[in-house]
Amino acid sequence: MRILAIESSCDETAIAILEGNGKSLKLKKNAIYSQIDIHKQYGGVVPEVAARKHVETVIPLIDSTLGKNKLKGVDYVAVTSGPGLVTSLILGMATAKTLTFANDLPLVAVNHMEGHVYSNWLSNKELVKDSQKYFPALILVVSGGHTELVLMPGHGQYQLLGQTLDDAVGEAYDKVAKLLGLGYPGGPIVSKLAEQGNKEAYDFPRPMMDKPNYDFSFSGLKTAVLYTLEKKKQVNKQDINDICASFQTAATEVLAKKTIKATQEYNVKSIMVAGGVSANKDLKQVLNKQAKKIDLPFFYPDLKYTGDNAAMIATAAYYNVINKKNNILKNKAIFDLEPRSNWQLSKN
Ligand code: KG4
Ligand code: ZN
Repeated sequence: MRILAIESSCDETAIAILEGNGKSLKLKKNAIYSQIDIHKQYGGVVPEVAARKHVETVIPLIDSTLGKNKLKGVDYVAVTSGPGLVTSLILGMATAKTLTFANDLPLVAVNHMEGHVYSNWLSNKELVKDSQKYFPALILVVSGGHTELVLMPGHGQYQLLGQTLDDAVGEAYDKVAKLLGLGYPGGPIVSKLAEQGNKEAYDFPRPMMDKPNYDFSFSGLKTAVLYTLEKKKQVNKQDINDICASFQTAATEVLAKKTIKATQEYNVKSIMVAGGVSANKDLKQVLNKQAKKIDLPFFYPDLKYTGDNAAMIATAAYYNVINKKNNILKNKAIFDLEPRSNWQLSKN
């Protein structure tokens, strides 16, 4: 099966071609145009600017990635149809709809967060070879817009155990970076500086860590950083490194503690992390160590698939097709597909 996937839910335009044969996955093409340099100057993603850039880039990116015989051998076209910025989503969706309709192909409407989950399958061969061995899996979904603990009993099945009540953890990284004047996106910079900092320098709160549920809250942690800065008035380089390290440690501790607690209650067979924040070394190290202690396999995506990309969308679509999910559209039904900016993983 050969799948062409398009991703445009936020500030990355991405195209991929993936082949799967039941036993293995082969990524044939994977191209990403990132708008980060454009949005950096505004300190975050500006939806209108992002949408305009998708208009400019999507067709040239398809042309340069696929060459002349664009859809040769393609069985399905997949596209992210939510969650994300509506104005960004519709550009990728309009492109995918046109390609599928003109070439008489089925369209797979993929949930962006499900794409992040399946970046684990893209990165770990043993998951592709024998998925059943690792179900039910516990997925920690951490990105710029989401922080969720999700139980995955099987392919395409998701039960939401808990989520953030305010900021997502990636958003907290971005806001802390902004407070420290470090630029956008915050995660990569904060985690890099944290490596040179003392994680015990500041005793930041661990919001909701000991609450008997799986919900999170990160806005108080960000506010604690703000109060620290206001109190100090001036910060030097070492202070910044220490704040980054102490903040990261607090965020990681809450995420890891709730994840490990859920593994026990739900008797899972594996732990996975997914989303932009799964690039974070500290989080992976702590989860890896704790998973080892309780003898559970821990999976994470390759660094190149942690951020937004179309390869993960193609992988999710592949499993949607082989498990006969109902998000596969044909003929005129393709044109009824609408973007779902708040599409939850646990809702079809
Ligand atoms: O999944 P993603 O690329 O986009 C969304 O779907 O939101 O996630 C982006 C988020 C940003 O908040 C970014 O700061 C964060 O992931 N991020 C990180 C790291 N790399 C990216 N957060 C912590 N540590 C990192 N190394
Ligand atoms: Zn994402």
